[in-house]
This record gives sequence, C-alpha cells and structure tokens, in this order.
Amino acid sequence: MVVAIDGPSGAGKSTVARMLAERLGYLYIDTGAMFRAVALAVRRAGVAPDDEDALDRVCRGLEISFERDDGAYRVLANGEDVSEAIRTPEISLLTSRISTRKAVREVLLHEQRRMGSTGNVVLEGRDIGSVVFPDADVKFFLSASAEERGRRRYLELRAKGEDVSLEKTIEEVAARDARDERREHAPLCRAEDALLIDSTGVSVEEVLRRMERLVRDREAARRLSAGGCGDGFCGNVEGA
Ligand code: DC
Repeated sequence: MVVAIDGPSGAGKSTVARMLAERLGYLYIDTGAMFRAVALAVRRAGVAPDDEDALDRVCRGLEISFERDDGAYRVLANGEDVSEAIRTPEISLLTSRISTRKAVREVLLHEQRRMGSTGNVVLEGRDIGSVVFPDADVKFFLSASAEERGRRRYLELRAKGEDVSLEKTIEEVAARDARDERREHAPLCRAEDALLIDSTGVSVEEVLRRMERLVRDREAARRLSAGGCGDGFCGNVEGA
C-alpha cells in the first residue's frame, strides 16, 4: 500500500502523515524534508539556486535518510543530523526556490520512488499523488485556509523563539503557495482521484480518523481482491 498526502504548507500534513503511519505501522517519508536537506547543502556549498549543473552535483553528492529516535523523526544528510538546521525561515525560502528546479526534482523523484518501493508507506509532499506515485492506493489532498495555515506557522516559529509577525507569516505562506502552484515542474495540485480534506477548524484526531478509515477500507478491499477473506487471517489457508 502506498498512501500519498499532498497539500500546501501549514495544512498539518507532517503531523497527520506521521501519526497515520504510526497507527498503520507504515514507513513515513517526509519529502519536504528531502528538498530542505538539498537547500541546506546548496547554501553550504555556496551554489547559485538557478545553476542547474551545480544543483545536480550537490543532489548527487547527498545521501538523505530518515531515522526514528525515541519517537522523534530525524533527517540525516550524509550521516549528519540536520533536522533542526533545515527548519529555519531562511532555508524554507531557499527550499521553495530550489524545489522549482528540474535538476533537483529529477534526482529527488528517483530517490522518493526508491524509498517508497518497499510498500506500506505514507509519503507526504506536494506532488506525490500526481507525479511521484500516480498509482498510489490512497491519495489525500490536505488543505486549510491561508490565514489558518499562517497562524499555525506563526505559533510554531514563536514557540521556537523566532521574532516574526503574524501578518508577515501569513503573507509568506501565501507567497510560497503561489510559487508552489505556478512552478513549471511538478506544481502543487490536487490529483483528480485524491480525497480533499479541509482541516480548517477540524481537529487532528478527526482528520486522522477519516484518513485511517479510508486506508483500512482499501486494505480490506485489496485483501479481498487478492483472494483472501478480508479479515487478514485466511489468506494462506488452503480452501478458505
Ligand atoms: O512541506 P515542507 O514545508 O517541508 O516543504 C518545503 C518546500 O519543499 C516547499 O516550498 C515545497 C517543496 N516541496 C516540493 O516542491 N515537493 C514536495 N514533494 C515536497 C516539498
């Protein structure tokens, strides 16, 4: 089973994708973190964000992996824990720029497909259901109003001690949406067969409940079509 969760920034994708993967016992892959790790490497290498050849080199020299440590998910770039370093406003901005680049998208597309090929995965991003896994078993498009998403992001940054204003954060969220939606390669869009969930004013628990129910239904349907009885117990019993 491949579960794709796409949507704009601040819609709550990371929280629900992680929790959904935990409930289902699936692997969780945060593709935004992969783009962020590339942005950090680009900045450290002093490469111009529009130099496709240099971007290609940086991407190919970077090994990104995920590690689960005491309930926390860690992002490793060539073995270094970059989980915190990739979440600064500066890196967010640079990520939004380099993620429009073909060289970056091509390398990461290949990597995301490789990571997801193990099956029983929840992948979270912008183009998972439309480009990376167009045949995903379940697709969600999680959204919320720009004001709500900006407010969530503002509270997150303030909690980290960042000196930001609410208005500016909402503006930045809207600007990032526009860039993600208008870019030439793999723009943010809802796949036709993705279930739209608007999380404005809806609790995380309620969003998770809806998602988990749909995934469990598909799991059962798959078992049935594979010749099992649907409850997961009789698949290997002869004559069952
Ligand atoms: O989900 P996030 O905020 O961590 O994503 C960071 C940036 O990466 C954001 O500007 C969109 C981009 N991104 C993308 O272009 N494609 C993806 N599959 C995931 C993220």
